Order: sequence, then structure tokens, then C-alpha cells
Amino acid sequence: MVEKKDRDRSDNQPGGGWSTEGLGYLQKQVARQRVFVVHPYLKDRPASVIERSPEARLDEAMGLAVAINIDLIGGELIPLRNIKPSTYMGQGKLDEVSQIIEDQEIEILIFDCELTPIQQRNLERELKVKVIDRTALILEIFGDRASTKEGELQVELAHLVYQRSRLVRSWTHLERQRGGSGFMGGPGETQIEADRRIIADRIVRIKKQLEAVTRTRTLHRAQRQKTPYPIIALVGYTNAGKSTLFNRLTEADVMAEDMLFATLDPTLRSIDMPSGRKVIISDTVGFISELPTMLVSAFRATLEEVLEADIIVHVRDASHADTDVQKHDVLNVLDELGVDFESETDGTPILEALNKTDLMDDEARSSIEAHAERHDTCIPLSGLTGYGCEDLIQAIDDILGTRDHEIEQLVPYSDGATQSWVHANTKILSEKHEEEGVRFHFIVDPILWAKFQKRAG
Ligand code: GTP
Repeated sequence: MVEKKDRDRSDNQPGGGWSTEGLGYLQKQVARQRVFVVHPYLKDRPASVIERSPEARLDEAMGLAVAINIDLIGGELIPLRNIKPSTYMGQGKLDEVSQIIEDQEIEILIFDCELTPIQQRNLERELKVKVIDRTALILEIFGDRASTKEGELQVELAHLVYQRSRLVRSWTHLERQRGGSGFMGGPGETQIEADRRIIADRIVRIKKQLEAVTRTRTLHRAQRQKTPYPIIALVGYTNAGKSTLFNRLTEADVMAEDMLFATLDPTLRSIDMPSGRKVIISDTVGFISELPTMLVSAFRATLEEVLEADIIVHVRDASHADTDVQKHDVLNVLDELGVDFESETDGTPILEALNKTDLMDDEARSSIEAHAERHDTCIPLSGLTGYGCEDLIQAIDDILGTRDHEIEQLVPYSDGATQSWVHANTKILSEKHEEEGVRFHFIVDPILWAKFQKRAG
């Protein structure tokens, strides 16, 4: 048995701000109830190189549960020989779980796997507790963290689609709204039809709202594209330390907590590079293994920053036992999103920030340093102590530098606008005062220069 982790957790009523629309349901319902997590897995599954240990998966699921401030009592691994279509696990395992429920007075059981609506209903009947699966748990976390209108709508939409598939369930949110007869009874067919209509109407309404929000977002993006600065996106596994590094790089005050998914919507800040150029750093949502496909597409919009990035900084918790598997997960998701990082010539360059080196012993740190010596896209650092952060900034600057052009240009004395632009946006190598004007010799980002020339006509 794994005891609950001693993570920050508030005993206050969590999940404020969610309306009767359905999100935050879990938190409101289970705020004061005793929750237990089980991670069922197939014990005879052939071990693959990239497979993460069941212990690590259970640990991650418990971390996710703690992230929404519920009263987590503990967790348990459930090795299975096969998966039963009706109840997921066989009678022997059900009896074991029943015993835990009784001993620990558990009221809510989180299954760290995807359950069919039928399995969920049967498990609830058999175990006589509320059962929640992994998709519902992740939806809850997303709902809790979404901070833009679009993020909220996307989560709500995903939640409604999920709810629609589970209308047979006896304790649906809608039923409670009607003052239904408690969660062990079931609504009649007519009621299910009515609920289905309510959900369908809500889906239509949300899609309309989303269209409007997306239009505004496109406008914002167009405005940002006019900003001639390169965009550097920090991506990485949840809890890898993106927000901490973002704070360190930008000295900004962005929420960084020992909680999964502390950032759901991208945050942008601009910083100055040693060469004098400005870049925009973007902090993005944390990735997670086996995110249900439905959720990946729902969050595409939230991650769009990554598609527009000039450079991706992959922040890795290098001290984590599963760091290689996590890297694999992140690259998979980036690939699914359509990021082209394979191509050496015209793909998006990726830098690996090997974070949390302060947590490593000397041997592990030396091995990472040696690896970084051989791979100049890998930078060992610590967002917490600041170690290596200068190297990361320099590496970003170097990549951007490779696309720079050297230009010689005579700017008439009357053209004050161009003169100040050159001063503000280029690295000046020399500046000579001649008869017709100032002869500048400078290094500039070609995209930036082209945009300026176009604007200047
Ligand atoms: P999500 O928002 O869940 O995606 O997390 P994140 O990747 O933004 O991680 P965050 O910056 O919130 O950090 C997660 C935890 O790791 C926090 O407790 C940080 O204090 C800690 N942390 C981050 N960087 C370092 C580091 O370099 N060293 C150590 N020791 N801890 C770190």
C-alpha cells in the first residue's frame, strides 16, 4: 500500500468558480470524502523499453488526485491477468478492493485507467462506492487550471462529450440537479432522453461560443505575428519545472507550485538576449502520458503557441527515474500536434533543458555534464538555483544568431526612424558619418529586417 504523499493541500472547500455546468463536479462532490486510487495493470504484458513501472504510474495518478485537493487516503497496485469487459477485474481482485474500501472507510475510488460506462456502473454496484476513471480525473484537473475563456470552453466541451457517453450512469450531475433519487437508483429512459437533449443543446451553445472566442484568438495571434520577436516555447512533462524556469528566465511572478498542471494556458513574456535581441518566452501546459485522445484535441488550441515557436525548449526533470520515458511521451505529443522537429534543416530547433540537476548526486551530474559536452542542444541546469540558465539563454541566442545577416546600409540623416530602428533592433558593428548620411554595418535577423523594410515602404 502506498501512503498518501505529503504534498501541499488545502482543507478548504476546493474548486471554486465552477457553475452548475458540470465541471468541478468531482471536487465539489468529493471535497470531504475519503478517496483511494487503484492502478490496475496487466502483469503479463511484455515489458517494453519505454514502459513506465506500475509503481511510477500509481505515483503519478496519486499526484494528479492530490493536485485537485481531494482527501486522498492512499493507493494500491492491482496486477491483473486479463481485463474483464463487465467489471474490469475478476471477483478475487474485487474482493480485495472491497476489503480496502471497508478497512479505510473509502467513499470514492479512482481507477487509474479508462473505464467503459458499463464497467463503471457495474463497479459502482459491486463496490458500493462512487467510481471515477482516469479521463474524468484529468478533465477535472484541466477544468481546475483552465484560465482563459477558450481553455474553459474546451474543457467544458470535452466534459459534456464524456458525460453524454455515460448517461446510463445513475448518479449523473444532471440527475442530482433534478433532485434525483440517490446514486444507486437509475433514471428512466425518458429522463435519459431529456438529459441527452440538454447536453446536445449545451454542446451546440459551447461550440458557437468557441467559434467566437477562436476568432478573437486568431486576431490576437495575427497581432502577435506582427511582433517581430522570435517565440521560444517551454514545453515539458507535467511538474518538470517549466514555470520555475520561466520565472527564472523572465524574473516574472508566475504561479509555480508542487502541483501537476499549475499552468494550463500559455503565458508570454519578453526578455533581452546577450546579443541585444528581444525574444518572447512562452510557458505552456504540462504534458501527461496517455492523455485520452479526446483531451489532446481539445487542448490543441492551448498548445498552439508551440506550433508557432521559433525554438522549442524541452524542459526535462533529469533527476526523475522515468525521465527517458517522459521525454518519449513529450516528443510523441509534439509529433501529434504537428511540430516538425525531425528535420535538421527547416524543422523547429529543440533545446533540451536538463533540469533539477541540484537534486542529482555527483556521479549522475557528471554523467549529464559529459552528455551535454557531446550534444550541444542539451543544457544541464536548475531552474531553482539558476545554475546553467545563462547557458540556456546563450544557446537560444546562438541558434537565433545562425540565421542573422550582416548588412551594410547608408541611412540618410533625414531618416531618423530607420536610424533609431537600427539602434534598437540590430547589433551594430560600425557606424560611420558620411556626407549623405550614416553608414551602418550591422547584424540583424533577416525576418525582422524584411518586415521593417516592408513597413518602411
Ligand atoms: P506543470 O504546470 O504541472 O506543467 O508543472 P511545471 O513543469 O511548470 O513545474 P513547476 O515549475 O511548477 O515545478 C514543479 C515542482 O518542481 C515545484 O515544486 C518546483 O519548485 C520544483 N522545481 C522546479 N525546478 C526545480 C529545480 O531545478 N530543482 C528543484 N530541486 N526543484 C525544482
